Amino acid sequence: MPATIVIGAQWGDEGKGKIANLLAKDADVVVRYQGGNNAGHTIVIGDEVFALSLVPSGVIYPDVVPIIGNGCVIDPKVLLEEMGKLRDRGIDPSGLRISGNAHVIMPYHRKLDAVRERFLGKNQIGTTKRGIGPAYLDKFSRDGIRVQDLYDSNILRDKLEAGLREKNQILTKIYSQLPFDAAVIADEYLEYAVQLSDNVADTSLLVWRAIRDGKKVVFEGAQGALLDIDHGTYPFVTSSNPTSGGALTGVGVGPKEIDAVLGIAKAYISRVGSGPFPTELDDDIGRAMVEIGGEFGTVTGRRRRCGWLDAVALRYSVRVSGITELALMKLDVLSEFSTIRVATAYRTGATEYTDFPRQQRVLYECEPVYEDHSGWQTDITGVRAFVDLPPAAQAYVRRVEQLAGVPVNLVSVGPDRSATFEVGR
Ligand code: GDP
Ligand code: IMO
Ligand code: MG
Repeated sequence: MPATIVIGAQWGDEGKGKIANLLAKDADVVVRYQGGNNAGHTIVIGDEVFALSLVPSGVIYPDVVPIIGNGCVIDPKVLLEEMGKLRDRGIDPSGLRISGNAHVIMPYHRKLDAVRERFLGKNQIGTTKRGIGPAYLDKFSRDGIRVQDLYDSNILRDKLEAGLREKNQILTKIYSQLPFDAAVIADEYLEYAVQLSDNVADTSLLVWRAIRDGKKVVFEGAQGALLDIDHGTYPFVTSSNPTSGGALTGVGVGPKEIDAVLGIAKAYISRVGSGPFPTELDDDIGRAMVEIGGEFGTVTGRRRRCGWLDAVALRYSVRVSGITELALMKLDVLSEFSTIRVATAYRTGATEYTDFPRQQRVLYECEPVYEDHSGWQTDITGVRAFVDLPPAAQAYVRRVEQLAGVPVNLVSVGPDRSATFEVGR
């Protein structure tokens, strides 16, 4: 498909990086549209493992133009470090293009993220403490500093001074922190700007031209639909729109340019950080999922909470993002279990919810209504064709697509890029 949005259909870490990278092999452009270095996308190619947080997964192919769109928040120090690490591994990231309209994460954003979380105590969101929320907050309160502001030292200094007049009061008086010095930050960031000057571009125009010229464009989502600021489990969400609408505003293209929305979902589900999680398993099975699935955060190393696949939430993600097809990831992780469960509804008292409940309280109070499937209990990591999966695994995939309401077109049975195959029709 010429223009495909790759999107997380759960709470993140579904395997978007792997699939975006797979599609990037035949693509011309890969563009990130929201989030920042809260994302951690792992790509495994043979013995090589790449963990990317900001640079799109297409960067490893010399013919792909990697782009960071206007909807992202960029920590330039992290970006330069990531580019440096790629260079060390023989990958030239100089073709990276970044939007001048993207907002910049400042040191005070990172600090505010950390101290606000501490202040929230047991109510904390469990953010990645990368300054994501505070940077988006400044964007929406129109106090933000954009990439293009780094190229006008007067504007940068003025904006920093004006912004810090307020933020230093908050930091010192509410959170008992030391104040930040606008001049010091300006000097540091002007230096980053020099290093990134060749990379800044009109990314909306670049993507539009690529689509117009019939090139293949992959929109690489970060996080997932259930972490969406509008549609997710607010306030336990991130501060951007990982749903497909975010790809349009976060790059600057219209809806008619999009050909496919590929939802990425694990064959089970995980979440890192706080918030409701109806199918969470606080038992040996949940622990086995963590161990077998290597469910530890790429960014923060935190243990991910795991549970059975939640088809109510998956249907919801399909709906709010207009997902046209799914990739079902990490099917191999379920191989050990004799019974595999899928939540098809939630129940509270006499009420059953097959649609995602509009009242969030239900997510805390409900019991999932499970459907049980027999497991296959055989290693499937070497399987490379759908028909070679054990019948029970095939039946599971078919049931997931039935419950989701869209086809599962890709199945993944291992971290390596090669451990993926299409589902024949
Ligand atoms: P992303 O944030 O959506 O890109 O996902 P992450 O990279 O944070 O987490 C997915 C993890 O699962 C990574 O460590 C991948 O290497 C790994 N992975 C991806 N697909 C599969 C799969 O089919 N099976 C197994 N066992 N691991 C996978
Ligand atoms: P990828 O792209 C999983 C979670 C955090 C926290 C909440 C808010 O790898 O799927 P933030 O730092 O964004 O303000 O944190 O969102 N979170 C993620 N969880 N995968 C991610 O990214 C995430 N990015 C943020 O754990 O609960
Ligand atoms: Mg991740």
